This record gives sequence, structure tokens and C-alpha cells, in this order.
Amino acid sequence: MQSPNSKKLFTRAQEVMVGGVNSPVRSFKDVGGAPLVMQSGKGATLYDADGNGYTDYCLSWGASILGHAHRNVVLAAKKTAEKGLSFGTTTQPEIEMAEYIVRYIPSMERVRFVNSGTEATMSAIRLARGVTGRDMVVKFDGCYHGHVDDLLTKAGSGVAQLAQSSSLGIPQSHIDNTLSLPYNNTNLLRETLTKYNNKIACVIVEPVAGNMGVVVPQIEFLKILRLLTEQFKIILIFDEIITGFRFHKGGVQSEFGITPDLTCLGKIISGGFPVGCYGGKKSLMKALAPLGGVYQAGTFSGNPVVMKTGLAALKYMNDERYKWLNLRCEQFAQEINHFFQEENIAMHLSYYKSMMSLRFRHEPVMNYADAQAAAGGKRYAALFHFLLNKGIYWPPADLEASFVSMMHTKKDLGHLAAAIKEYCKKERG
Ligand SMILES: Cc1ncc(COP(=O)(O)O)c(C=O)c1O
Repeated sequence: MQSPNSKKLFTRAQEVMVGGVNSPVRSFKDVGGAPLVMQSGKGATLYDADGNGYTDYCLSWGASILGHAHRNVVLAAKKTAEKGLSFGTTTQPEIEMAEYIVRYIPSMERVRFVNSGTEATMSAIRLARGVTGRDMVVKFDGCYHGHVDDLLTKAGSGVAQLAQSSSLGIPQSHIDNTLSLPYNNTNLLRETLTKYNNKIACVIVEPVAGNMGVVVPQIEFLKILRLLTEQFKIILIFDEIITGFRFHKGGVQSEFGITPDLTCLGKIISGGFPVGCYGGKKSLMKALAPLGGVYQAGTFSGNPVVMKTGLAALKYMNDERYKWLNLRCEQFAQEINHFFQEENIAMHLSYYKSMMSLRFRHEPVMNYADAQAAAGGKRYAALFHFLLNKGIYWPPADLEASFVSMMHTKKDLGHLAAAIKEYCKKERG
């Protein structure tokens, strides 16, 4: 597809914004080529500055569960905006949203809204440290929780180790308190938590990982994690910023029957605006200001337009719609995996309900080391551009999750399946 306007706009963007983007992945660094500048979206389709349409499986990195410009969402935003945008006080929409979340995620007895996922995880960790009086944080290799100083670490090597920073500008003292462990490795988890038990404030985990591509947890791993954190009085934080309200009303925690101490939400809960939220038991959350001594604040937190728009999106999704959405993606994944097997192509789709990732090997992916070994690299980049030329927008980076929205039709997924099959046959020659 030709995209001269995108090219012109991106040149302009580079003159005034760092690298032409406000988030690095948008630069197409992983896949090469000129980044597209999008100008609108409707339903499952994104339109670039040249008017080319792309069926969108990136969906603002999982946020747009109703696709783009859904009528209910746009109406809620407009109606609320007409009454004023920001008051810097408590408003009814944020009370309604908090009631809604507390109802569907019972472990979140009290919540606090913030403006991004990063802010939510950063604040949850501060709260955990404040409550426990401990400094150490445990995370898992390949899980991403936003650009929090303490969590921007390089993956470990399969043994428990003090993490290294993956970004310049992070004081060593932050990273000295972070341990990064392999996902799904129960033995190492047990060893590490036992060794450092009275130093660790919290463990933060994506209960279904999305940021090393989709990795489904072994339930035993999460159960042991809960057991050990309870035993050592370590705060367990579930980062449900992707998974919250994606598969059903609530968090993935209820599917697994595991209750974390704190939960972080974002993305879907705003219908497309910037948002974050964290919450947990009353007894824990009361440590936050103004009730307690852990400080956290925000001018725009709980913004009424964001809250009303998010509520419209969340309320549109009922059990039947979730079931339909999950099934649609699962059926697609099964079809593609069947194709890979039949054709003896060393690839598979790892998926969980309505999120999925392409892997360039047969064997399942259980952790970040597996995800790296199963990365496509140049093959992923070639596939990405092949799909783009067919009018399909897949995430512009390997090791990311793709998503299906309520607006994707069977025909859309059929088109995607045909394109992937065509690419694989062409690649094989
Ligand atoms: C699981 C998870 N946590 C946290 C974040 C950070 O959220 P934000 O980009 O809104 O800061 C992301 C973003 O992709 C995420 O996927």
C-alpha cells in the first residue's frame, strides 16, 4: 500500500517529537519500514493518513475491546464532556466506576484511580513497601508493568539473580532491590522467596502474561506463589492491566480462584482514554493518603469523562458477548494451529481466550527464555509487512500480544487466516 501522507507526517513528527513517537514501539524499530500515521478508526478498522484501511489486531495494545469509535463509547464521552472536563474534586462518575470494579473484582474492596498503567503499578509497589516496611520487589522475566524505575530490568538467566537495569537513567539503588525470576518456575520461586522472605515487600506478576507474547501460567505456579506470599507476609500484586475485563466481567484471578492482595487495572476500563487503577483489601488500602502515610495523588485522577466512557464500554460487555469474543479468537487459533501442524510448519499461535501471539517454533512457550527462542526476528518483520500490505495491522513488534475486539467479524478472521497461510506457503517457497 502507498502511504505518502504518512511518510510526510512522520518526517514532520521527527522534527518535533523524539524519534517521531511518544512511545518507542510505535517507531516500527522492530519491524523496519516507515511507521504509519493513523488518522481514524471505526469498528475493527484503522485508517492511516492516506485513507488506507487496516483490520486492527493491536487495538491500542489491548485497550479497544469494542473496536474503534463505538457508538456507546463516543456518546458517553461527548455527553460527559459537555458538562465540563475536569474539576479536581470527587465526582459521581468515579464513584460509579469504583462501585462497578469493586462489584466484579471482590478482592478490590477499595480502589484508587490514576492516569496510566505505569502509575498504577508504581503506586501499588509504593503501597506494598509502605505497608510491609520492606524494600525488595520480585518480578518475572518478560513481564512488563510499565516504565517504573524499579521494574525496568534485564531478564535473568534462569537463576535467581539481582536484576540489571534495561534503561539508562535508573539509579543502581532502585535495581538493587529488584529480583527477576523466570515465569512458571515454581522451584526457583520457592527458593528465592524463602531466602529473602523478610526483605521482600511484594511480588508483581501478569497472571496471564501478554508482554512476552501470550504465556499462560501453570495454575500450580500461581497457587504456590499465593501460598508462599501469604506465608511470608509478602504483598502479591496481580497486574491485570491487560487481562482485567478482557475475558469476562472482572479479572482473570476469579477464573484461577487465586486472590491477590492488590490488583492493577488499566487499558479496557477507560474505553480508550488514559487510565490506571489499583486496589485491594480495605485494611491494606487504608495505608494510602489521606487515611494513611503512603502518599500518592493526581490532578486528573478519576476524570469524569474517562470514567463515564469506561463505564459505557464495560457495561456494553455482557456474559454472552464475552463468550462470543473468546470463542471467536479460540476458534481462529485452533484453525491456524491445525494448519501449522498439517503443513508441518514450525510455528504456533499461543493464545488465551481473546489474546494471541505467533511463535516461530512448535514447542510451547512457558517463560521469557522460551519466548526469545521462539521469536521470529526478521521472519516476524517480513510477516508483519506482508499482513500490512493485505490491510491487516498486527503489533509492530515481536513478542507482543494481538487482540480481537467485539467488532471483528468471522470474515475478518477468515481474511487474517488466509493471509497467514499464504505468507507461510510463500516463505516455504
Ligand atoms: C501488563 C501491563 N502493565 C502495565 C502496563 C503499563 O501501562 P501504561 O502503558 O498505561 O503505562 C502495560 C502496558 O502495556 C501492560 O501491558
